[in-house]
Formats: sequence, C-alpha cells, structure tokens
Amino acid sequence: MRIFLIGYMGCGKSSIGRALAQRLGVPFFDTDTAIEQRCGASVSAIFAERGEAAFRALESDALAQAAGLDQAVVATGGGAPCFGDNLERMNAAGLTVYFKMSPEKLASRLYRGKHKRPLIADKSDAELLAFIALNLEKREPCYSGAKLIIQCDGVSDQYIAEHVINYLENYKKG
Ligand code: S3P
Repeated sequence: MRIFLIGYMGCGKSSIGRALAQRLGVPFFDTDTAIEQRCGASVSAIFAERGEAAFRALESDALAQAAGLDQAVVATGGGAPCFGDNLERMNAAGLTVYFKMSPEKLASRLYRGKHKRPLIADKSDAELLAFIALNLEKREPCYSGAKLIIQCDGVSDQYIAEHVINYLENYKKG
C-alpha cells in the first residue's frame, strides 16, 4: 500500500506522514527531501536558480520514484497534485489523502516557516492570508480529487493519523 498525502503548504503532510509511516511500519518518502538530495540544493535554491518549471519536472520524477516503492507513506509538496498528471498517477498508485485546512489555520502555521517556501517567502504577514486564500481556491479542485479528504481544522495531528489508519482498516475489510 502506498499512501500519498496531499494538501496546502503547512497542513502537516511531512510531520504527520513521518508518524504515520512509523505506526504502519513502512518507509516514509518526502518528495521535497528527495529533490533536495538529488540536486544537493534546497527547494528555495532550485526555484531561484533553475525556476519553478524545472522544480515541477523534478517533483514529477520524485513522485514516479515514490510510486515505484512497494509500500510507503509519501508526503508531497503542496503544488504536486496540481501539475501535469501527478494527481492521476498518485490515484493510480495508491491512496491519496487530502489534509483540508482553512486559510486562517494555514496562515497561522506558515508565519514562521514561510522563509523556506519560495512561493510565500516574500509575503508580509499581512499579505500571507490573502495569498493563501486565493491560491487555495485555485488548488482546491485538484486537492478534492483525493480518495480520502480529512477536515483538519481544530483536530490534533494524532487524530488525523488515526483517521487514516481507521480508513485503511475498513478498506481492508471491505
Ligand atoms: C510548494 C510547496 C512546498 C514545496 C515548494 C512548492 C507549493 O512543499 O514543494 O516550495 O507549490 O505549494 P510543502 O507543501 O511541503 O511546503
């Protein structure tokens, strides 16, 4: 079983994904980390030096690598399902799970981590919420193509991981 975690920047894909992989006893794969290791450069440096299109091509390769693993929990970058046929490929390769979160909650979680994320690094705190709201609205149709959607406002990371595990257990039974 491969589980692909999708959703906007800051929604908890990497931290929850790592915990989930540990609980399930399967490898954890993070597409951003795989890209950084392959290039020997940070996501910010790749965007700055090679541009977003080059990053998206690398992201697509990283997803293909993840889809080739026997079992894995895969944390994807926030834009991953919205480019090319990435969403279709993830849906064909395993269970896609969307961590759905409001722009307000995302903004509150991204104020501190924004410098590592080239799409929002230059936004002032005042601009951040408006940018997220607009960008999320554009991306929502892609995210909504996930097989499982979890409403993540006001719930703990532990609850979210449990929700995925319960879903998998029912899925096996059914
Ligand atoms: C991006 C999200 C980032 C990273 C890159 C682009 C996006 O990953 O892939 O900065 O387009 O939303 P996280 O969602 O892990 O922050």
